[in-house]
Amino acid sequence: MNLKLSFRKLELTETFDLRKRTLNPDGTLHRPGDEEAMHFGAILNSKIIGIISLYQQNQNEFLEEGHWRIRGMAVDPKFQYQGVGTCLLDYVLSRLKEVSQIRQIWCKSREGGVALYTKFGLKVVRKLSEDSILMSTGYLPPAG
Ligand SMILES: CC(C)(COP(=O)(O)OP(=O)(O)OC[C@H]1O[C@@H](n2cnc3c(N)ncnc32)[C@H](O)[C@@H]1OP(=O)(O)O)[C@@H](O)C(=O)NCCC(=O)NCCS
Repeated sequence: MNLKLSFRKLELTETFDLRKRTLNPDGTLHRPGDEEAMHFGAILNSKIIGIISLYQQNQNEFLEEGHWRIRGMAVDPKFQYQGVGTCLLDYVLSRLKEVSQIRQIWCKSREGGVALYTKFGLKVVRKLSEDSILMSTGYLPPAG
């Protein structure tokens, strides 16, 4: 990784530019639970080049302690597949461990995200649709 990145929590509205440019060209910016979720960014020269949001919900999309859904993860097209997503996810999962007992991490990934999530212990559960793949760590034992 040659890029000099820093990481920080984001306000929800700070995710909108990258959400629109990389994930939702149709203009859908909001996801249910956005107000309660935690949003983080990878920053290069004061510019947000990577985003990720974490929602405390189980696979039925209900609030459940320790169950975390990754959603809205994207890297600026100019910087994709140069290690930004890996560094951002690494940072975010370390932060999460500080504030929560993690029982499960899951997501509905696009094809392009599968390799990234696999590196962090998520496995493919099943394909949900053409470009949506359910991935999960499964239930993790309590830490310590
Ligand atoms: C998916 C995405 C978030 C990954 O972030 P990134 O910074 O590009 O990914 P990284 O450079 O950290 O690479 C992660 C892994 O992807 C794999 N990878 C590398 N090049 C790849 C490519 N061209 N296509 C698919 N996977 C690739 C590698 O396994 C890599 O890990 P490694 O370099 O240690 O082997 C980003 O590319 C993106 O925003 N894509 C468009 C939106 C999207 O598909 N989001 C998916 C989330 S649902």
